[in-house]
Amino acid sequence: MSILITGGAGYIGSHTCVELLKANYDIVVYDNYSNSQPESLARVKELAGKDFPIYEGDIRDTKRLAEVFNVEKIDAVIHFAGLKAVGESCVKPLEYYDNNIGGTVKLLQIMRNAGCKRIVFSSSATVYGSENEVPFNENMKVGGTTNPYGTTKLYIETILKDLYSSDNTWSISILRYFNPIGAHESGRIGENPNGIPNNLMPFIAQVAVGKRPVLSVFGNDYETKDGTGVRDYIHVVDLADGHVKAVTRLLTKTGLDIYNLGTGIGYSVLDIVKTFEKVNNIEIPIQIAPRRAGDIAVCYADAQKAKVELGWTAQRNLDDMCRDTWNWQKNNPDGY
Ligand code: NAD
Ligand code: WQD
Repeated sequence: MSILITGGAGYIGSHTCVELLKANYDIVVYDNYSNSQPESLARVKELAGKDFPIYEGDIRDTKRLAEVFNVEKIDAVIHFAGLKAVGESCVKPLEYYDNNIGGTVKLLQIMRNAGCKRIVFSSSATVYGSENEVPFNENMKVGGTTNPYGTTKLYIETILKDLYSSDNTWSISILRYFNPIGAHESGRIGENPNGIPNNLMPFIAQVAVGKRPVLSVFGNDYETKDGTGVRDYIHVVDLADGHVKAVTRLLTKTGLDIYNLGTGIGYSVLDIVKTFEKVNNIEIPIQIAPRRAGDIAVCYADAQKAKVELGWTAQRNLDDMCRDTWNWQKNNPDGY
């Protein structure tokens, strides 16, 4: 079985490629390298000890993408390609709507024309908005996103639901990721943000390696055990394994299913800092800063549905996430 991976050179995509190859799937990667480098895929090949075709291209380039479906036999698509910086999406909403929503619509049209109707989509816990109570489960009402990035995920979920209503021969798996962190245990692939990291763990890693002097903790007056924000951090290799399970299920059934991929455990910002310090024996200087606009206090998953239906649960704990992040960062201080 052959899987097309859009955005396969990126952080989650590259880890998923390794796990798919390990599970004996054939893969084809399509990426425009707008937020990644070809080197990540060279390392995927090295880690898996296998070769696979790579196409440099944009999902909005219908001619190029259609060519891939003509040349390769594609049984299903895992669709990671998209822009993901929350702050940037507020400055450039049209670019986000065009790339994420426009790109996905084009991909779906080409898939339909090629008769390939199986897709796994990268959604986000951000679609739960700020009104639901934790733990978030898949039956809760979605909406109330606080930035254009989140809204693109919400709209794409709606587009996929409408598509399935119009044609129930599609197999669609919407995966709502919580907070992916960590790296492959080899330290060869990992998260490689451009510029100043927006997310907590890459920022901590850059403080640890001496690139940034101090971590700003955004708010210590939330209604949480220590006042700092609480999130459901998930090891990226566990997340990758969730994709293998989701795509395997797609190959045998039609339908539209939504799954949370999280551990079900919430950790605060200070929990993360303390665990990173303990596991890696490195001090992370912090300063308390004002709350960040758009942040919610607490977010964690009810991860039962993925357990029951996909047979998937996260295997790696916070120590593993902190150790593997540092192993990647210290071996690749400047990324790829
Ligand atoms: P990433 O930026 O590392 O990977 C995305 C990849 O897509 C990059 O390689 C980029 O070059 C490529 N890409 C972007 N636009 C493209 C286009 N128009 N055509 C072709 N390729 C394109 O991001 P990631 O963290 O690996 O995230 C993967 C997906 O998961 C994204 O859709 C993201 O929104 C979603 N997601 C990520 C997180 C997270 O915290 N990392 C959480 C929830 C959901
Ligand atoms: C985690 C916690 C911050 C940085 C984002 C997106 C979401 C999804 C995952 C893509 C919060 C605090 C952070 C820092 C801090 N992405 N923090 N200092 O905001 O939960 O989720 O990434 O799909 O859509 O919104 O993740 O890592 O940015 O923040 O104190 O320098 O760390 O306030 O409590 P978030 P994050």
